[in-house]
Amino acid sequence: MAEKGKENGVAAMAACYQGFDPAAYLQYNYTPPRADFERTDSIVPWKLACLHRAFTEGDVSGELLVDIGSGPTLYQVLSGCEIFKKVLLTDFLEVNRQELRRWLQGEESSNLDWTPYLQHVCKLEGRRPSAWTEKAAKLRQVVMGILPIDVHRPQPLASDALPSAGADCLVSCFCLESVSPDLAAFTRALGHIGRLLRPGGHLLLIGALGESCYFGGPGVRTPVVPLNEEQVCASLKESGFTLIRLEVYTLPQDMRVGVDDVTGVFFVKARKD
Ligand SMILES: C[S@@+](CC[C@H](N)C(=O)[O-])C[C@H]1O[C@@H](n2cnc3c(N)ncnc32)[C@H](O)[C@@H]1O
Repeated sequence: MAEKGKENGVAAMAACYQGFDPAAYLQYNYTPPRADFERTDSIVPWKLACLHRAFTEGDVSGELLVDIGSGPTLYQVLSGCEIFKKVLLTDFLEVNRQELRRWLQGEESSNLDWTPYLQHVCKLEGRRPSAWTEKAAKLRQVVMGILPIDVHRPQPLASDALPSAGADCLVSCFCLESVSPDLAAFTRALGHIGRLLRPGGHLLLIGALGESCYFGGPGVRTPVVPLNEEQVCASLKESGFTLIRLEVYTLPQDMRVGVDDVTGVFFVKARKD
């Protein structure tokens, strides 16, 4: 009975995602004011700064970085692509995998111009903004694949997708809380993705605080597990991670643009026990 309930909750989430619209999602979340590179209090520059710091502190290393639930976005691997020789992107939906493929294959038809993102991360790295073309080439060179994933399965990726030792690092942004029907499912999903990581490997997790829903497209209202910092820390502990750092961003009023009810964002750097 309890097992059936769990399955129903997960199936209802999967049904919501059938209406996900990559172009609208990018427009809602990855253009100004949320992606305003002139403002230090804009959400996207905050996320990019957290990722830049985490990847360049010297403790994150290895061969393989896996991004969990990439969606149609690339910002989350713009720092990591300089550290790891191999990067795998993953998503549940073919429309998102297609969006990523289009950019990686150099097609003009991407729904978002990633140039300001590439330029901004070059600046964080102390490079000329004009080095963005080199960063774009680097990213295209290191991405080894764009794979289907389901974080609700104990084995989220195909069995032969990763080397047997697992990945050296995972990054995941706004995925687990936006695809889970409740906190227990969020924690289980965290445990599932933890199995993809080698012991001692790092997890960089970004997610929404206090969010109960977001729009994945016009009229596509998707429920989210409203999380607080204590719950994130408890789920990490229960899933076999040691927390290194938790940072919190509070959304300024004008960043609350009516596409969700998020109040804050957390950034976690953790290590698998
Ligand atoms: C809120 S979006 C986050 C996208 C991107 N990572 C970002 O930072 O904006 C949630 C993503 O989770 C994906 N997703 C939905 N169900 C999933 C599942 N069961 N397992 C893994 N990913 C899933 C969706 O397709 C979507 O791309």
